[in-house]
Amino acid sequence: MKNNIIVTGGAGFIGSNFILETLDSSNSNIPDLVINLDCLTYAGNPENLASLKDNARYTFTKGSITDQTLVTSLFIEYQPRAIIHFAAESHVDRSIRDSSDFIETNIVGTYRLLESARQYYDHLNKEDKAQFRFLHISTDEVYGTLNAHDVPFSEKNKYEPNSPYSASKASSDHLVRAWHHTYHLPTLITNCSNNYGPYQFPEKLIPLCIFNALTNKSIPIYGDGKQIRDWLYVKDHCKAIQSVLLRGKIGETYNVGGLNEKTNLEVVHAICHILDELKPKINKESYVKQIQFIQDRPGHDKRYAIDAAKIQTDLGWKPETSFEIGLRQTVIWYLEHQDWVNHIVTGEYQHWIKKHYS
Ligand code: NAD
Ligand code: TYD
Repeated sequence: MKNNIIVTGGAGFIGSNFILETLDSSNSNIPDLVINLDCLTYAGNPENLASLKDNARYTFTKGSITDQTLVTSLFIEYQPRAIIHFAAESHVDRSIRDSSDFIETNIVGTYRLLESARQYYDHLNKEDKAQFRFLHISTDEVYGTLNAHDVPFSEKNKYEPNSPYSASKASSDHLVRAWHHTYHLPTLITNCSNNYGPYQFPEKLIPLCIFNALTNKSIPIYGDGKQIRDWLYVKDHCKAIQSVLLRGKIGETYNVGGLNEKTNLEVVHAICHILDELKPKINKESYVKQIQFIQDRPGHDKRYAIDAAKIQTDLGWKPETSFEIGLRQTVIWYLEHQDWVNHIVTGEYQHWIKKHYS
């Protein structure tokens, strides 16, 4: 086995942040090689990793996690010490419109990865077996929804997924669990809350709001905007993943949250106020005026909140970035990376916006 890691879905939002953080010189545990396996759906963007073009510790393979021959060949070629599995269809609204890709990638793709990993693991020697890890990145949405006064989700909560997306992620979590219990594959699962930060595709609330505000479009709020999400800055999430990879107990699940519960309306207002300050409109009007309440999402989960006590107590991780600071940094990043946004809002993006919001 070598000091290599395979990352699936590394051209997406969290995966690319994770690869950049992993290969950052400040990281104390840099692998010899990071192999990024990504089939580049609309959400995958190699531009996120352009800074690694000449980095000998990074290589990219274009392909799908559902292609078992390919995945198996990567295990044989690179002999990784870990696989960190981000690849997924990740947008709830798209899963409501058409769930087929969610079933294929999130469930079948995870199954194929587990099978390839199991074959690889079975042939490792005892010392390498003790080192190898399969880390599956999942979501708090598998736990369903909370009412205002419910206690936050802990790892002991029952799975009650409500959307096709969360049901497909819940299925993949169950597969990972079963591959550990049945085949002793050394798995770890993280269930995190809503991430935000650089490189997020502008179909999700925060980047969509920034993009629409700056392009003078309406900022769509589903229903009354009182739904609550627990916002986690993506760089804090990446540190949590590193902790779980290094020190997580095999077979365990860790919830990762930002301790930042906000209603959607609070989030959107905060973005508008930051933009009012950093990029005031010529007519001095607030961006808040662009907010438009639209039809609610079917089956819209009311509240997500994470009890992150386990990862804090057992692994010493806690979120470091306040929502105020993280959101301001995110808005500044989007203001400074208008080219990045303009490159990805392609024909496919326009098609989705037209289909979903018209
Ligand atoms: P994303 O949609 O930005 O990126 C997904 C990446 O996976 C893309 O690069 C895409 O090309 C790739 N991909 C999709 N199907 C693939 C396939 N069949 N084979 C190979 N690559 C494929 O997603 P994200 O926001 O970065 O989320 C990463 C992971 O974190 C997902 O598993 C998601 O369920 C989970 N998660 C995300 C959030 C969040 O707020 N973004 C919250 C909780 C959990
Ligand atoms: P989203 O970023 O899609 O993440 P998730 O559905 O996984 O939580 O949405 C975050 C919240 O914002 C969610 O309650 C839905 C809401 N939302 C809107 O009100 N308008 C929008 O245009 C979008 C994309 C989301």
